[in-house]
Amino acid sequence: MSTWIIRPEQSGDEPAIHDLVKRAFAPMPFSEGDEQDLVDVLRAAGDLVLSLVTADGAGAIIGHIGFSPVTVDHASCGWFQMAPVSVSPEVQFTGIGSALIHAGIAEMAQRGAHGIAVVGNPVYYERFGFAVIPGLAPLSDHDSPYFRAQVLAGAAPQGTLRYAAAFG
Ligand SMILES: CC(C)(COP(=O)(O)OP(=O)(O)OC[C@H]1O[C@@H](n2cnc3c(N)ncnc32)[C@H](O)[C@@H]1OP(=O)(O)O)[C@@H](O)C(=O)NCCC(=O)NCCS
Repeated sequence: MSTWIIRPEQSGDEPAIHDLVKRAFAPMPFSEGDEQDLVDVLRAAGDLVLSLVTADGAGAIIGHIGFSPVTVDHASCGWFQMAPVSVSPEVQFTGIGSALIHAGIAEMAQRGAHGIAVVGNPVYYERFGFAVIPGLAPLSDHDSPYFRAQVLAGAAPQGTLRYAAAFG
C-alpha cells in the first residue's frame, strides 16, 4: 500500500520539483517542454506564493502544485493562477492530483484569496468547482476554451485576466 503526505515546498526541494514537473509533462501532447522552468522562474520572481508537494513514504516528491498571482484589467484583485499541477507518471490516476488541488484551493481560501483561475482540461477541473465565469477571460485566445475559474470570496472580477510574468 502506498502512503503519501502533502506538505509545503521546503528549501532543497527545488531540483526534485523541477525533475518531477519535467517528467509529468514530457508525454503530454500539449506540453511546450518548459513547464519545469516555469516553476523555477515563478519562484525566482517571488510569484510562487503557494507551492505544495506530495512526498511518498520514502520522502520522494511525486506530486506538485503551484499558485501565482494574477491581475484583472491590470489590477491586483486577490486572484491567483493554479499552475502547473504535476504528478509523477508512475502514480498518476491514483488520487494524488485531486488531493493536491483540494489542498491547494483550501490553503488559498484560508489565506484570504478571492478566487483561482486555471487553464486545462475542463472535464478534469470542473469537478473541483472551476467553471466558466461570464465576463472574466484570459488575455490569450488560445487559452480561452480551457480557461476556468472559481470564486472563493466576494464577487467575480470582470475583465481580462493576466498571468504572472513567468507565463510570458
Ligand atoms: C493531470 C494530473 C495532474 C492529474 O493528477 P492525477 O493524480 O493523475 O489525477 P487523479 O488521480 O487525482 O484523478 C484521476 C481522474 O482525473 C482524470 N484525469 C486525469 N488527468 C486528466 C486529464 N488531463 N484530462 C481529463 N481527465 C483527467 C482521470 O481520468 C480520473 O478520472 P476518474 O476519477 O473519473 O476516474 C496528472 O495526471 C499529471 O500530472 N498529468 C501530466 C501533467 C498535466 O497534464 N498537468 C495538468 C496540466 S493542465
